[in-house]
Amino acid sequence: MSIPITLIPGDGIGPGITDATVRILEAAGADIAWDRKLAGMAAVAVHDDPMPDETLESISRTHLALKGPLETPVGSGYRSVNVALRKEFDLYANVRPAKSVTPGRRRYDNVDLVLVRENTEGLYVGVEHYIKIGDDPHAAAESVAIITRAGSERIHRYAFEYAVKHGRRKVTIVHKANILKFSQGLFLDVGRDVAKQYDGRIEVEEKIVDAMAMSLVMRPEAFDVIVTTNLFGDILSDQISGLVGGLGLAPGANIGAKAAIFEAVHGTAPDIATKGVANPGALLLAACMMLDHLGDHARATRIRDAMYATIREGKTLTGDLGGTATTDEFTSAIIARLR
Ligand code: NAI
Repeated sequence: MSIPITLIPGDGIGPGITDATVRILEAAGADIAWDRKLAGMAAVAVHDDPMPDETLESISRTHLALKGPLETPVGSGYRSVNVALRKEFDLYANVRPAKSVTPGRRRYDNVDLVLVRENTEGLYVGVEHYIKIGDDPHAAAESVAIITRAGSERIHRYAFEYAVKHGRRKVTIVHKANILKFSQGLFLDVGRDVAKQYDGRIEVEEKIVDAMAMSLVMRPEAFDVIVTTNLFGDILSDQISGLVGGLGLAPGANIGAKAAIFEAVHGTAPDIATKGVANPGALLLAACMMLDHLGDHARATRIRDAMYATIREGKTLTGDLGGTATTDEFTSAIIARLR
């Protein structure tokens, strides 16, 4: 029976790379019933809302979405799409893999790691205020970082379960508990407790975030799965994309209690939006993460292998990968290599 999945083509290059991804999944035999829904500027034009209720309802039904990049409408009055999705579906884990692929265009040869970022707590909860001192109402500002035992427990558990399911050997817990003894201390303590339950199966390592930033540059091949809090995860996830050559091949997943949403990390690329030359690779890798999430590892691996082989051969590449191929030509080259 077909698997129902919400498909949000998005804005700019979104529809083009979404079509390419759907073509490749179909050629690989994935049996998916796509429920196409609007979001972003495409939805503003029709519904005057960048995240219409019918799109949210579709995801509530399917529990799964593949999402193209969305243009964020400038100006107030529109709800933030990402905030709406995160709240509606309690998307607590942001998962970002980084793998060396493109010869000559990446910094390192042997990077193959996955960062799991806690996505709902920490310094990004938005609890902030100014403090008036004397006549100055903005003399100081205070932001509160909130870490809960329950939030820490579920993100650590997700990271360790991810490691088990994907045959990974190690989880590195990244923290700053030496200074932030309460909030980061709680995150680390819970991580240690969860790690005990995987003793003998998954190796565990602890790293202070500043040392981690250096180690990621000095010897990124030493890391496997990384789990950390919201702010550190935000920064380190872009750092790991940089290690392997930028955002062109960077996928991401937002995993929640009620749904999982898969997308490319890059945006709508307005500079090339109408030219048919965008690289669909990041969205395709996100779709492979979705297949993995569904337990269809064999198909995900076949598709990834076909794409990596196409890139390594170097004959049919989009402009960002150093070639002159169109989105369609790159897509057809991947399909031709599917086994
Ligand atoms: P961007 O990622 O769209 O573009 C940055 C540069 O990378 C551009 O030169 C672009 O041509 C290139 N690029 C990006 N994806 C590419 C691809 N698949 N193939 C080839 N080249 C690619 O970032 P920018 O310009 O800062 O943002 C543009 C719009 O995208 C904004 O409205 C922003 O809000 C939105 N955005 C949406 C995201 C999402 O929905 N997840 C994430 C990031 C930005």
